[in-house]
Amino acid sequence: MGDLQWYKIEEEIPEDDFIRQVVVAGKKLCLLRNEGKIYLLQNTCPHAGGILSGGWCSNGMIICPIHRYGYSLENGRGAEGQGDYVNIYPVREESDGLYAGFRRSLFSRFFGNNSN
Ligand code: FES
Repeated sequence: MGDLQWYKIEEEIPEDDFIRQVVVAGKKLCLLRNEGKIYLLQNTCPHAGGILSGGWCSNGMIICPIHRYGYSLENGRGAEGQGDYVNIYPVREESDGLYAGFRRSLFSRFFGNNSN
């Protein structure tokens, strides 16, 4: 985990369960709280591009609103038979807010090498 770069999520974070799109370092992601725990994942469904932040959670999975494919909130794996997955990003709660961690290699692929 030492290879992570942390970015603050500039959002009000509700105490109760929620699901919404957020922008972190210019990238749209899906942020949610399910049964009290916060998760951050890609916002685009790998099946056919549905917006996961328009979906809902069920049995520890995010459910895409378009064709109802499910993805594990813990490891991103698609439900049985789907054979696909979503990216899950680590989050860290600090006294001044919530931070998202991106692997440095991944981050430079997403955003270019303009961070320091
Ligand atoms: S687009 Fe998400 S399940 Fe088809």
